[in-house]
Amino acid sequence: MAWSVGAGLEGRGVIVTGAAGGMGKPVAEAFATTGARVMAVDLYQSAADEVVAGLEGTDHVAVGADLSDLDAHQELVDRARRELGGVYALAHLAAVLQRRDSMDEVTEQDWDFQVDTNLKATFFLCRTAANAMRSAGEGGRIIAFTSQGWWTGGFGGSVVYCASKGGIVSMVRGMARTYGSDQITVNAVSPGQINTPMLMTDLDPEVLEQLRVATPLGRVAEPEEMAGTVVFLASQHASFISGATINVSGAMLMY
Ligand SMILES: NC(=O)c1ccc[n+]([C@@H]2O[C@H](COP(=O)([O-])OP(=O)(O)OC[C@H]3O[C@@H](n4cnc5c(N)ncnc54)[C@H](O)[C@@H]3O)[C@@H](O)[C@H]2O)c1
Repeated sequence: MAWSVGAGLEGRGVIVTGAAGGMGKPVAEAFATTGARVMAVDLYQSAADEVVAGLEGTDHVAVGADLSDLDAHQELVDRARRELGGVYALAHLAAVLQRRDSMDEVTEQDWDFQVDTNLKATFFLCRTAANAMRSAGEGGRIIAFTSQGWWTGGFGGSVVYCASKGGIVSMVRGMARTYGSDQITVNAVSPGQINTPMLMTDLDPEVLEQLRVATPLGRVAEPEEMAGTVVFLASQHASFISGATINVSGAMLMY
């Protein structure tokens, strides 16, 4: 086995969702440096195109798709099979956060928007990808994104978002049991506070400062600091890690 963080990924098809987002872009860039063929998926085609234009190497594909539309999932996976030669890994980062200062301001629409995008779409997309991995018979890697909020319940008006992210942890455990016999690993990455539009939008600066102080590393992370964890989980080196939730929070949480 070659000892490099992206071992085993050269020439493999990898789908990265939320690829135009704060963390998604460096994750897509990191996969491209391993020699993987990346499908960068985000809401708008132009944003996905821009990400792919900046990736090292060729054979990458940009897709504009709304993943809360479950009908889009099969087409996405079919395109990855046709255009990347398969789906070996899915790194699913796309998610939404709708902050509400007061619990009483949360509407049913807020609930549906966040739970449908963050949890429901994750279940169906991961299942669609896992079925493609199963039929290819070469194992696979599913990496979903939860949040420190799965454990803490969140800060800054994010209770509904955190409920959706708690669901990701349970779902990943169930999927790890389901797909293990096909050598498909299923894990979650759980970031702490990361400097991206999702964290910074509508966040009270005082809350941000409290979070910084509660983080023993004493800072908010930069989005690039998540990419190594994702690529490692997709690599050969992580072949026996499944059902895990990897805490990347600068010691804000310790588990
Ligand atoms: N930033 C943080 O501090 C933090 C902390 C914990 C967890 N997370 C999680 O990390 C992941 C990445 O977050 P980020 O900070 O990079 O967020 P971001 O808002 O910068 O990026 C998210 C991306 O997902 C895309 N997206 C949203 N809904 C979509 C849909 N329906 N279909 C397709 N694409 C869609 C957006 O267009 C955006 O580009 C998310 O799952 C998030 O919940 C973030």
